[in-house]
Amino acid sequence: MPARYFRTAGHLLVCQNGNCRARGADLLMLALTRAMENEKLMYYKAGGSVRLTSSGCLGACSHGPVVACYRERGGALEQGWYEGVTLPLALEIARAVHEGADLPGRQRYGPDED
Ligand code: FES
Repeated sequence: MPARYFRTAGHLLVCQNGNCRARGADLLMLALTRAMENEKLMYYKAGGSVRLTSSGCLGACSHGPVVACYRERGGALEQGWYEGVTLPLALEIARAVHEGADLPGRQRYGPDED
C-alpha cells in the first residue's frame, strides 16, 4: 500500500538554528504549530493544506526568526522569504498559502519581494 498523499498548497520552513532560536524561533514554532492546528490549516487536518517544517539555517542569521515558504502559483514556483517573523505574520503567511492569496509584503525579502 503506498503512502497516503495529503493535498499540499505550500510549505513553510521555520529556521530552528541557534541565532534564530536566540530570537524566539523555538517559541514561534510551537505557537505557530498550535495556531495552524486550531485553524485547521495543517495538511493533516480535514480541509487543511499547509506543511510546516523546522529548518536548519536559512542564511539570514542576524535577521531572525527567519521563515521561508514555497508554493506553486500560476504554474511557477513562488518563494516567500521573511525576516523578524512574529506569530501574527507567520499565521498570515500560512493563511495566504492555504487560501491561494497573495503573500504578505511586510518583512519580506528576496527574489519575489513585492
Ligand atoms: S540561524 Fe536562522 S537563518 Fe541562520
